[in-house]
Order: sequence, then structure tokens, then C-alpha cells
Amino acid sequence: THPAGEGPPPNHNDNERRFRELWDQIAPIGRDAGSGGYLRYAFTTPELALRDWFRAQADRRGMPVTVDGNGNLFARWGEPAAPGAVLTGSHFDSVPHGGAYDGPLGIVSAFLAVDELRAAGVTPSRPLVVAAFAEEEGARFGVPCLGSRLLTGALDADRAAGLRDADGVSLAEALGDRPAGPRPDLLGGWSCFVELHVEQGRALVDQGTPVAVASAIWPHGRWRFDFHGEGNHAGTTRMADRRDPMLTYAFTVLAANKEARLRGAHATVGRVRVEPNATNAIPARVTGWLDARAADPETVAGLVEAVRAKAAERAGRDGTEVTVTEESATPLVGFDGDLGGRLAALLDAPVLPTGAGHDAGILAGHLPTAMLFVRNPTGVSHSPAEAATDADCAAGVTALARVLTELTGR
Ligand code: GLV
Ligand code: MN
Ligand code: MN
Ligand code: MN
Repeated sequence: THPAGEGPPPNHNDNERRFRELWDQIAPIGRDAGSGGYLRYAFTTPELALRDWFRAQADRRGMPVTVDGNGNLFARWGEPAAPGAVLTGSHFDSVPHGGAYDGPLGIVSAFLAVDELRAAGVTPSRPLVVAAFAEEEGARFGVPCLGSRLLTGALDADRAAGLRDADGVSLAEALGDRPAGPRPDLLGGWSCFVELHVEQGRALVDQGTPVAVASAIWPHGRWRFDFHGEGNHAGTTRMADRRDPMLTYAFTVLAANKEARLRGAHATVGRVRVEPNATNAIPARVTGWLDARAADPETVAGLVEAVRAKAAERAGRDGTEVTVTEESATPLVGFDGDLGGRLAALLDAPVLPTGAGHDAGILAGHLPTAMLFVRNPTGVSHSPAEAATDADCAAGVTALARVLTELTGR
């Protein structure tokens, strides 16, 4: 017999082995040999290979796959007609040279959790659906959570069809068709969504716990700053005669950093484009993308407004022009408190907010939604340094299996 509250020790080694076996199947796909990071952009060869892997895994488990016309895949275990399916999963796509776990961990864990339920003899009273969402990072077409936004109608299908990647390929071309747009028929069949994700910070390392439940996602968005000046010769143009947009751009980046610090917000310019991008030419145009996030929407709005004003003022001094275009905006997401509280109690896990966006944040506007975070020993994400131990991933699978058992009922 065991003391009250203690069961027999779970066989972690076996769970870790099962995790590693499945993980090793996808680990080489889209990995850049130089950086060790991943280049898994939506609908490109590596991401299509991951989709094939998804279909094979679903097939092996007898789970029929539905495609929604927006690039999202859904594998179902259980009767199609039964109402109130429980949805779980995440995304395959990565940022440029991203980590291995951001996205795929949620999909691999979902299949392994199905295996755990089956091994435990659980027959869910409602269907369980494993999802792979398209273009969560927005690394190819610029709009994050593209697939879930289309599915829920948060993004207009006509606008999305015309989005183009860096090579000028449109989303419609990449999809092979115009996006289908809202799918109330699918949405209406789901009772809740639980996305498991690697943690993208240090909270769980600091707390010494492998798994947490998310409470909220900070409001955030992307603003494109286009700085226009006059392209000219680097050697012959007098310093006083220049209209150099690089100067306005550089000042704006520093201003964004300062304004964010003053407000307790996060501002990042992680992407820049220079035209013509020649060492011996003053640029004609510089484009920088501002990613702004904070705990509340007023702070984000105030931050973006302050950066815009500083950029405009500086443009006046540099003889340049600046235009600002909002490319995406995600409001504050408070995850379903009842569901989150229930899962936190079930797992005896801490509850954390996050500054990272997720498909769960989009779906939260339509059905009760929760997230589980798995500890990341480096605390680093959107980088090859992102990490998770096999033991913690196995603990995540077990936590997800417990959650799905609870939510699907027996
Ligand atoms: C997506 O990972 C984001 O939060 O940018
Ligand atoms: Mn990400
Ligand atoms: Mn992610
Ligand atoms: Mn994300």
C-alpha cells in the first residue's frame, strides 16, 4: 500500500522512450545544419513532410483526417456525429532558425496522449481531435496564427488570399486554392481546445516545476514602419545633402526600446529590409517591423503611438518620410478561468501568463480554451537554443493525457 495521495511511481523511462521514438522521426525535418535551428515555413517542403508524417500517424491510429481548406489538419478519434469533441494540438511551422519544440511538441504530445488513453483502456465518451494549424508564426505570409484566424473568421479570406511571401508567392498559390474561410461546422463541433506548448521563458525553471497552465496571453501586434529617403552615392553625396532613411530607422529602433522600458512593455524590431541594400549606396528605403506587446492593450497602443510620433519627428529632421501600417493585432486573451482552474487543480500546476501568441489565443474567442506549458531549461525560444528534456516532455504527455481523460469523460 502507498501513503495517502501517492500512487505507484509512474514508469517514466518507458514514457520517455516512447516520446524519443516519435520525436526522432521529425527531428531532422527542416533542420539547418549550420545553425541547428529549423526552417519549417508553411507549405514548404519540410512543412509538407511534417504534414505527411501527421497523416501517417493518424492513419496508424485509425484516425481519419479532415482538411479545412485553410491549411489546417484535424485527425479524429471517435464518432464523427458525436457532439462536443475535445480539440488538442498545435503547429508545425517555425520562425527562421527556430527551435525544435515550439509547435511540434504539442502535436507529438497529442498523439502520444491518445496512445496513453488507449493503453489505459479509456474509451472517450466524446471525440478527441488532434490539430495541426497552419502558419502560426506568420514567418512566411506575415500574419501569425493565419490558419486559426481563417478558420474562425478573424481574418478575411479575400485579404488572406492575396498575402504574399518574400518570393511573391500568394497564400492562394501556396494552398493551391483560395482559403475556405470560416468553418462554423467544424468550430461548432468542438467543446474545448487544449494546446500543449514548450514554455518560452524561465518561469518553470525558477519554480522547479515541469508543467504549468496558462492564464492569459498579452495583447500584441506587428507594425510595419516604411522609411522613405533618397537613394544616392555613398562616396559623392555630401553628408549635409543626404536624406538617409537608415538614420530615421536606427533612431526609431532605439526609441522603441526606450519607450518599452519606460512602460514595462516589450518592443522588438527583429526584421528589416533595406533597398537597394548596397554597401556603397545610401538606402532609398528601409522597412522595419515592430513587434509590440504588453500586459494590457492601452500600454501597447501607447507604446506604438509614442514610437510612431518619435519616428515622424526624426523623419522631419532627416528629410525622410515614414508610414506605419498595422499588419496584425491580437487582443488580450484571458483563457477560460473555470477550465484553467480545473486543469491547474487536476495537475497541481502553477498558472502563468505569457507574452507569446498561440492559436489557442485565437480559438479562445470561440470555445473554452486552455494551454499547458512544458519547462524549457534554457528559457530561450524562437532560437536553436530552445530546449526541453525528454523527462519533462514525457511529463507533459502524461499531464495532457490526464487532462484529456478528464475532458472527454469515460
Ligand atoms: C508566436 O510565436 C509569437 O508569439 O510571435
Ligand atoms: Mn513561436
Ligand atoms: Mn508556437
Ligand atoms: Mn506562438
